[in-house]
Amino acid sequence: MESIEFTSNRPEDTYEIAKNLGKLLKKNDIILLEGDLGAGKTTFTKGLAAGLEIQKNVNSPTFTIIKEYNGRLPLYHMDVYRVGDAFEDLGIDEYFYNDGVTVIEWAHIIEEQLPSEHLSIFIFRDGQDKRILKFESSGARYEALCKELFNENLSD
Ligand SMILES: Nc1ncnc2c1ncn2[C@@H]1O[C@H](COP(=O)(O)OP(=O)(O)OP(=O)(O)O)[C@@H](O)[C@H]1O
Ligand SMILES: [Mg+2]
Repeated sequence: MESIEFTSNRPEDTYEIAKNLGKLLKKNDIILLEGDLGAGKTTFTKGLAAGLEIQKNVNSPTFTIIKEYNGRLPLYHMDVYRVGDAFEDLGIDEYFYNDGVTVIEWAHIIEEQLPSEHLSIFIFRDGQDKRILKFESSGARYEALCKELFNENLSD
């Protein structure tokens, strides 16, 4: 496992790095988002959606667990905060191997059902508007993805 930290000083920074990541995503990529309430998981997902050329506004699904958006690739946005054990019956693995990209907020709640290869992003609050984003890649695909993302974003 490899990890890299990115400092975000405002919501726009989180959106921008996520958008750049979104541009690099490929079919079947899995992105897991962790962080407390209001950390910025949905803000990150909005940026990711922009990078996937999704026009529709992405929001936090309150009663829906999974929302699907169409862009350069389909985006399956899941927020599993409220699912509990019922999730085992939902057949989410079908999404992982479908045509798009999967993003899961609060992914650790359904840890047992997740593929071992994925990119996790942990968002930590550090004051009002500052966030530390820790990118942790499991598997060669995600290590390469992070290298690509940060080579581009750290060099300029
Ligand atoms: N650097 C930052 N990055 C991201 N969001 C920030 C930052 N600074 C302030 N914010 C604010 O924090 C809030 C993050 O809300 P968001 O809905 O993205 O969080 P979340 O992690 O999805 O929460 P929830 O657990 O309720 O789904 C927004 O109001 C956003 O404007
Ligand atoms: Mg959210």
